[in-house]
Amino acid sequence: MDIKTVPPLGGEGQDCLRGLALAALAATAWQDKLAGVQAISDAAVLDCGKTFAPSAVLPGRPPLPELVAPSQVRQRSMATQEGRAALLHALAHIEFNAVNLALDILWRFAGMPEAFYRDWLRVAREEAHHFDLLRRRLEALGYAYGGFPAHNGLWEMAQRTQDDLLARLALVPRTLEARGLDASPQIRSKLAGAGDAESAAIVDIILADEIGHVAIGIFWYKRLCRLAGKDPIACYAELAERHGAPRLRGPFNLQARRAAGFDEAELAALQAGDAALLPHTESQA
Ligand SMILES: [Fe+2]
Ligand SMILES: [Fe+2]
Repeated sequence: MDIKTVPPLGGEGQDCLRGLALAALAATAWQDKLAGVQAISDAAVLDCGKTFAPSAVLPGRPPLPELVAPSQVRQRSMATQEGRAALLHALAHIEFNAVNLALDILWRFAGMPEAFYRDWLRVAREEAHHFDLLRRRLEALGYAYGGFPAHNGLWEMAQRTQDDLLARLALVPRTLEARGLDASPQIRSKLAGAGDAESAAIVDIILADEIGHVAIGIFWYKRLCRLAGKDPIACYAELAERHGAPRLRGPFNLQARRAAGFDEAELAALQAGDAALLPHTESQA
């Protein structure tokens, strides 16, 4: 990996785990962002109560890929190398956004227990690993991250939920990342069916980690619901409605969702097409 120095972010919080996360979030080059995640040591000071006033535009991102509307991201044939590269690029962009999302939750939401920040640091590291696996695979096929247009759906949900941690947990890990669990088997089988076993193996690694990310989201979502005296299912429906989350569509990866900790009532409602319970997105993290 070509690692450059992470630019300082006004010098604020650089020695604090959450400040380092903010600095990595502000980094624009992917190389700097990955280096920024690597630079967050387990031994860094963790101040759970600190608040930050970022001076950089968030999230930092490179000039490419060009961001376009989801309808403008073309589906391509898996029969060609370019088609498979376009799919891998779409996944890499999702992972790039997933790195940003995990870093964002670290600095933005103060006042949570230490274990909360440790959990999301693990997620940030795994997302960075996923991005790196995919961009290396793209390079092996003769392409690069930034070489195809991409859409920004994942980060848009981060913006909508920037003032509300409960909504962030409900609609990002429990919705967008959970949608990724559903999408993985089809993506894997497309790649394997095209004879691209190496790319399919990367999707396997990502799926195994993503179950853990959704589990972390479910754990902290339910804990916050409990503390606030809210019913998790009713609260979810309310948040999905308030933030305009679109409906989910099957097929659902029930095995992975169960492994992540979705309970049977939620899965039954999902399968019954209960629009109020779980919305549709097309993202994977
Ligand atoms: Fe994830
Ligand atoms: Fe990921």
